Amino acid sequence: MDPFAFKPLVFLLCFIGCCTGQGLLPQGPLDAILGSNATLRTLVDSPSFAFITWTFNDGVNKAINIVTLSPSSVNVAKPYQGRVVVNQTNGFVTLMSLKAEDSGDYTINIISDAGTLTDDIQLRVLYPVSDVVITPNPPEAVEYNSTVVLNCSAKGSFLMFSWTNGTTAIVANSRITLKQDKTSSVLTITGVLRTDLLGPIYCTARNNLQTAQSAPFNLTVYYGPDPVTIIPQVVQPFIRSDANFTLSCSAVSSPPATFTWYHSQQIMGVSGPVLSLQAIKDSGIGAQLDNYTCLASNAKTLRAVSSPVVSFIVMDPISGVRITGPTATLIAGNSTANLSCQATAGTVKTTTWHKDGKPLLASSRVVFSQDMSSLMINPLQKEDNGEYKCHLENPVSTEKASYRMVVNFGPEPAQVTGDKQVEENRRAVFTCAAPSIPPANFTWKLNGTLTNVTTEKYVIEKADLTNSGTYTCEAYNPVTGKSTTSSFNLEVKKEGTLDHGLSDGAIAGIAIGVLVAIGAAIALTVYCRQKVPHCCQPCRKLTRSDDPETPWRSSGVR
Ligand SMILES: *[C@@H]1O[C@H](CO)[C@@H](O)[C@H](O)[C@H]1NC(C)=O
Ligand SMILES: *[C@@H]1O[C@H](CO)[C@@H](O)[C@H](O)[C@H]1NC(C)=O
Ligand SMILES: *[C@@H]1O[C@H](CO)[C@@H](O)[C@H](O)[C@H]1NC(C)=O
Ligand SMILES: *[C@@H]1O[C@H](CO)[C@@H](O)[C@H](O)[C@H]1NC(C)=O
Ligand SMILES: *[C@@H]1O[C@H](CO)[C@@H](O)[C@H](O)[C@H]1NC(C)=O
Ligand SMILES: *[C@@H]1O[C@H](CO)[C@@H](O)[C@H](O)[C@H]1NC(C)=O
Ligand SMILES: *[C@@H]1O[C@H](CO)[C@@H](O)[C@H](O)[C@H]1NC(C)=O
Ligand SMILES: *[C@@H]1O[C@H](CO)[C@@H](O)[C@H](O)[C@H]1NC(C)=O
Ligand SMILES: *[C@@H]1O[C@H](CO)[C@@H](O)[C@H](O)[C@H]1NC(C)=O
Ligand SMILES: *[C@@H]1O[C@H](CO)[C@@H](O)[C@H](O)[C@H]1NC(C)=O
Ligand SMILES: *[C@@H]1O[C@H](CO)[C@@H](O)[C@H](O)[C@H]1NC(C)=O
Ligand SMILES: *[C@@H]1O[C@H](CO)[C@@H](O)[C@H](O)[C@H]1NC(C)=O
Repeated sequence: MDPFAFKPLVFLLCFIGCCTGQGLLPQGPLDAILGSNATLRTLVDSPSFAFITWTFNDGVNKAINIVTLSPSSVNVAKPYQGRVVVNQTNGFVTLMSLKAEDSGDYTINIISDAGTLTDDIQLRVLYPVSDVVITPNPPEAVEYNSTVVLNCSAKGSFLMFSWTNGTTAIVANSRITLKQDKTSSVLTITGVLRTDLLGPIYCTARNNLQTAQSAPFNLTVYYGPDPVTIIPQVVQPFIRSDANFTLSCSAVSSPPATFTWYHSQQIMGVSGPVLSLQAIKDSGIGAQLDNYTCLASNAKTLRAVSSPVVSFIVMDPISGVRITGPTATLIAGNSTANLSCQATAGTVKTTTWHKDGKPLLASSRVVFSQDMSSLMINPLQKEDNGEYKCHLENPVSTEKASYRMVVNFGPEPAQVTGDKQVEENRRAVFTCAAPSIPPANFTWKLNGTLTNVTTEKYVIEKADLTNSGTYTCEAYNPVTGKSTTSSFNLEVKKEGTLDHGLSDGAIAGIAIGVLVAIGAAIALTVYCRQKVPHCCQPCRKLTRSDDPETPWRSSGVR
C-alpha cells in the first residue's frame, strides 16, 4: 500500500526526523479463517507508551480508527465494540468473529516521549477450504482416443491444488498437463491409457491454514479388446462328432468383450465365448473343412478384434460294423461266397480285408468290389476256410468285424498207416486219415466184410492169426456226400518170427552212413592225387612266395 496515501501521520513524523517502527509488527500477511479470532501482536513486549492507536484501511475507504489506548484507558471505536479485545499491557488487539470485510491493512502507532513508532500488517480473512470436487470430462474415456479433462474445483481463498494417487504426487509429463487458477485445477491427459491414474486419485486444495481433499476418484478408461486368444489354438484336422470339443475365446477388454462366431467369414448364430461342437452340428455345418473364428467386440470402445483361425472337419465315427456272408452250406469246388462289410453309421474312408491275420489278396478266385466293401470267392476251395476280418477306417475311428467261413470239402483220398506185420498177442493199431470238413465218418471192412469199427483208429488189442487180411477204410463226408477208401494188408505172424533187432529204418540209416563214409574217402584220395601233388609228402611248410602268380607255395624241409 502506498504509505503516502494512507499513513499521513507516520509519513509526517518520518519526514520531520522521527523513527518509523519497521519490525514493530511481524511480517505479514496474517491469515485467519472467516469467523475465527485473529490477534494482532506486536514484536515489542510491554512497550512504554503514552498512546497506542490501531487503524484499519481496507484499501478502498478511508482508514478508520479501531482503538486508542493509554496505560489508563481503552477507547474502542464504535463499529468494533464487542468485537475487539485489547491487552492494555502490550497493546495486542484481538478481532473476533472475523468477517470478510476485515481483510486489509492494520496500522499501529506507538506514541511515547521518544516520538512515534509506526508499522502495519496485512490481515487476510480466508474463506474456509471446502467442496473439493473432481469433475471428469468426458466421464468415460476410451483408451488412445480420448483426451480426459479432470477439473478439480474447490471453495476457499488463496487456494493451491495438488493431485495424488494417495501416496505419490501426479506430475505433468508429455501427455499430462496441470493448470491451476483461483478455485480450480485442471488435469488434462491426452491419448489416455488404461494405466494412467490407476485409482483412486485425490485432489487436494489448501491454503496456509486449511487443507481439504476430494473424495477418491477413479478414472474410467475403456480399453480393448486386446488380441484374442482362441483355445485350442491347434486342432486336429478331424474332430469326432461325439467328442467333448469346444472352442473358447478370451480377450482382455473393459468392459468385457462380447463374442460372436464365424465360419468361413459367415456369421453363425452363436454368441458367447464358447463354441461347442453341438452348436456347430446344430448349425448344419462341419462336414466340410471350415475356418472358425470368433470376433471380440467392445461396446464402449467400438473396437472389434478377430481371433486366429482354427480349421477342422467334424466327422462321425464308424459304428455297427458287420460282415454278411453266405448262409447256405458251402461246398468246395461248387459254392460261391459273397462277403460284404458294412457299417450302420459313419463315413468309411478305407476298407481292408484280412484272412487269418494276413492281408487278403485278390486273385482269379477272389474278386473285390470297387470300393472294397465286398468280395466274391468263386469257386470256394478248402483253403478258403478261416476267419475273415474287415477293417473300416476313417480319420476319427477304426472298427472291425469278423466272420468265420466254413467250406465243406473232402474227404481227401484216405490213407491208412500202421504196422503191416504184427506178432500174435501183440497190439495192432492202424489209422485212417482223410482230411475233410466236416470230419469224415469212417467205416472199416475186413476182407470186404463190414466191421463194427467207426473210428479213424482201428485197434486190435491182442492180434491172432485170424486178424490177418485186407482192411479197407472208407471215409465218408455226409455234407459233400463223397467218400474215399484205402486198403491195407495186415499180416499176423507167430510169436518170435519177427526180428526185433534194429528196425528197418535203423538198418537203412547205418547202411547209408557207411556208404557215405566210403564214398568220401575215395573222393578225397582222388582229389589229392590230381590237384595237390605234394599232398602225401610229410611236413610241409607254407611260405610266402615272391612269385605274384602263386603267392603262396609250400616248400619241403631239406
Ligand atoms: C474468540 O474469542 C472468544 C472470546 O475469547 C471466544 O469465546 C471464542 O470462542 C473465540 N472464537 C474462536 C473461533 O476461537
Ligand atoms: C496482557 O499481556 C501481558 C504481557 O504480555 C500478559 O502477561 C497478560 O496476561 C495479558 N493479559 C491478557 C488479559 O491477555
Ligand atoms: C472447473 O469447474 C469450475 C466449477 O464447476 C468451473 O467454474 C470452471 O470453469 C471449470 N474449469 C474448467 C477448465 O472446466
Ligand atoms: C501411486 O503411484 C506410484 C507411482 O506411480 C506407485 O508406486 C504407487 O503404488 C501408487 N499408489 C497407489 C496407492 O496406487
Ligand atoms: C476405485 O477403484 C478401486 C480399485 O479398483 C476400488 O476399490 C474403489 O472402490 C473405487 N472407488 C470408486 C469411488 O469407484
Ligand atoms: C467336457 O470336457 C470338459 C473339460 O475338458 C469337462 O469339464 C466336461 O465335464 C466334459 N463334458 C462331458 C460331457 O464329458
Ligand atoms: C481358411 O483360411 C485359410 C487361411 O487361413 C484360407 O487359405 C482358406 O481358403 C480358408 N478356407 C475357407 C473355407 O474359408
Ligand atoms: C478412435 O479413433 C479412431 C481413429 O482415430 C477412430 O477410428 C475410432 O472411431 C475412435 N473410437 C471412438 C470410440 O471414438
Ligand atoms: C454241385 O452242385 C450241383 C447242384 O447243387 C450238383 O448237381 C453237383 O453235383 C455239385 N457238384 C459237386 C462237385 O458237388
Ligand atoms: C458221422 O459221425 C457222426 C459222429 O462222429 C455221427 O453223429 C453221424 O451220425 C455220422 N453220420 C453218418 C452218416 O454216419
Ligand atoms: C465189435 O465186434 C466185436 C466182435 O466182432 C465185439 O467183440 C466188440 O465188442 C464189438 N464192438 C462194438 C463197439 O460193438
Ligand atoms: C482174409 O483173406 C486172406 C487171404 O485172402 C486170408 O488169409 C484170411 O484168413 C482172411 N481173413 C479173414 C478174417 O477172413
